[in-house]
Amino acid sequence: MITIVAAISKNNVIGNNGMLPWDIPEEFNLFLSIIDGGTIIVGRKTWNSIKSPDFTRKKYIVVSKSLDKIENVSICKTFNEAITLAQSFNRDIHVCGGVDIYKEAFKVADTLIISYIKKSYDGDTYFPKFNKDDWKIEKTKEYDEFNFVIYKKK
Ligand SMILES: NC(=O)c1ccc[n+]([C@@H]2O[C@H](COP(=O)([O-])OP(=O)(O)OC[C@H]3O[C@@H](n4cnc5c(N)ncnc54)[C@H](OP(=O)(O)O)[C@@H]3O)[C@@H](O)[C@H]2O)c1
Repeated sequence: MITIVAAISKNNVIGNNGMLPWDIPEEFNLFLSIIDGGTIIVGRKTWNSIKSPDFTRKKYIVVSKSLDKIENVSICKTFNEAITLAQSFNRDIHVCGGVDIYKEAFKVADTLIISYIKKSYDGDTYFPKFNKDDWKIEKTKEYDEFNFVIYKKK
C-alpha cells in the first residue's frame, strides 16, 4: 500500500519556513498513528523538519541529490528509487511530502489521507493540485480544527 499523507490549510498551505505553519496536537497525533510501523518517504527539507524521528518503529527514506549519509536513514537520489527500496522493506509506505515528492507520489499511490485544516495560514509551500475525480472517499471524520478524509484510488 502506498499512501500519501498530508495536512492542508483552507488556503492550500502545507508549510512555512521549513516547518508546519500550525500547532494542532490532535492532528499531529493522528498523523503519528497513521504512519506508525511503516516506511516514511520524505524530501530533504521535510526530513530536516522532523524533530524526533522514531527509528524503533519506522523506516525513513529521504529523497535528496545533495545528502550523503544520515545514520539510520536511507537516502535515495530519485523518488522511484525510494519507492523500490520502500517496497523491499515490506511495510506500509507513507509518502509525507514535500511538494515534488507528493507530485511524484500521485502517479503510484493507492490511498490518500488528508487532514483539511479549517483555518487559513500564511505559508510558502502549497499542496499540489490533484484530480479529485480520480479518488473516492472511503472515510471522513470531523475534528474541532480539521476534517479528516481517507480516499482510495478509483
Ligand atoms: N502539511 C503537511 O502535511 C506537510 C508535509 C510535508 C512537508 N510539509 C512542509 O513542507 C515544507 C517542505 O516541503 P518542500 O516541498 O519545500 O521540500 P521537500 O520536498 O521536503 O524537500 C525538497 C528537497 O527534497 C529533495 N527532492 C524533492 N523531490 C526530489 C526528487 N524528485 N528527486 C530528488 N530529490 C528530490 C531535494 O533535495 P536536495 O536539494 O538535497 O537534492 C529538494 O531540494 C516544510 O515547510 C514542511 O514543514 C508539510
